[in-house]
Amino acid sequence: MSLFEQPAILVTHIKELVTLKGIAAKDGLHPKDHDLGIIHDAAIVIKGRKIAWVGKNRDARKFLRALPVPYKTLDARDMIVFPGLVDPHTHTLFAGYRFEEFGWRCEGRSYLDIAKKGGGILNSVAATQKATQEELIAIGRMRIQKARSFGITTLEIKSGYGLSYQDELKSLKAIQALQETEKIDLIPTFLGAHAFPAAYKNKKAAYLSLLCQKMIPEISEKKLAVFCDVFIDEGFFNLAQTKKILTAARQHGLKIRIHADEFKALGGTELAASMGAHSADHLIAVTPKGMAALARANTVATLLPGTSFFLGKAFAPARKLIERGVSVALGTDFNPGSCMTQNLPLITTIAVTQMKMTLPEALAAITYNAAKSLGLQHRIGSVEVGKDADLAFFEMPSYKYLPYHFGDNFCRRVIVKGQPVSRAAGHVSEKQSKK
Ligand code: NIG
Ligand code: FE
Repeated sequence: MSLFEQPAILVTHIKELVTLKGIAAKDGLHPKDHDLGIIHDAAIVIKGRKIAWVGKNRDARKFLRALPVPYKTLDARDMIVFPGLVDPHTHTLFAGYRFEEFGWRCEGRSYLDIAKKGGGILNSVAATQKATQEELIAIGRMRIQKARSFGITTLEIKSGYGLSYQDELKSLKAIQALQETEKIDLIPTFLGAHAFPAAYKNKKAAYLSLLCQKMIPEISEKKLAVFCDVFIDEGFFNLAQTKKILTAARQHGLKIRIHADEFKALGGTELAASMGAHSADHLIAVTPKGMAALARANTVATLLPGTSFFLGKAFAPARKLIERGVSVALGTDFNPGSCMTQNLPLITTIAVTQMKMTLPEALAAITYNAAKSLGLQHRIGSVEVGKDADLAFFEMPSYKYLPYHFGDNFCRRVIVKGQPVSRAAGHVSEKQSKK
């Protein structure tokens, strides 16, 4: 059956449609107001999984008359419609919580100090290792529904709380199983290099071999991950180790993204750019050399200001990055230690108030540039004919309202690959029994 024989959806009377057409045309660089491509009183025609037509409401039926197909109508009166939001950096699949550590940090103990004493990432690793694959799937399902309730239709999820051969595979297989059942695009990233597991504390070379010679080849062969990520920082992986891991990943056909310059600049950003990484993330401590390398390589800077906010740290230099010609994306970094939120719209509030990003920069950062950081900008990230029909509907007075009314959730429904999901159907609260 051709695309045009499938029943269509006509989305009518959209109060404001944020297409981001101009942002896509300039590949996410230097986003300005007029690049947002706002259409007032707009309509969209969806055929199958794709967007077939975008324009003024009054012209939509003319288009459908010319191409007679059965269609259903979805009234979007009072709605502001965005492309489905893209969260390009999350650690969604963890068991247990770390609220005790959060309390200690608020009393002045540092993240690194807590990690060195066996807390931090390794604390979540212990809880995640104990969980079965079925328990992880249940946790993942609850959180995917929560992410979608905020308008997110594409969600990157990292492993990295397994840190053993079977527990990393368990996490990645849980993501694969969730992709089968949940209406959302999941992009799995292998983060076996999140921290050295306790058993390898004094056998770092052995863990590197396990990563490069066993886990990466097998994960790539089983198609359990699209990307490989490394946490390069003081107390975690150094530059030489990172290069080794990313080289193995690339050899086995995995794409690269990296946690770089979060606390200290160890050369991770420059390495990422030189190795053709899609994205370098965090960048709180990025140097002018690192910024120039990103601009040259067209590697996206994925900034995570929720983490700076939650850790009480400095913010990444978003203005400098944008002015130097880097595409800037924003993600939640949702994880139990350094950023316990899935609220991507809230991240735009932190970005505009603390990093002085402009509204079009912040909106581009959770759509087109986030898609670009995942290598998916040709398929998602803007509302244009031929792109996937991923849309997020917000009940707000204006698109300008998104970062303004912070901490609440105005998303009422999403459409994922042409399939509507209402918020009521997908709205859940975070709950993990007993933990
Ligand atoms: O992105 N930086 C490394 N990983 C996470 C923190 C993970 C954790 O504390 O559990 C981050 O901030
Ligand atoms: Fe992270």
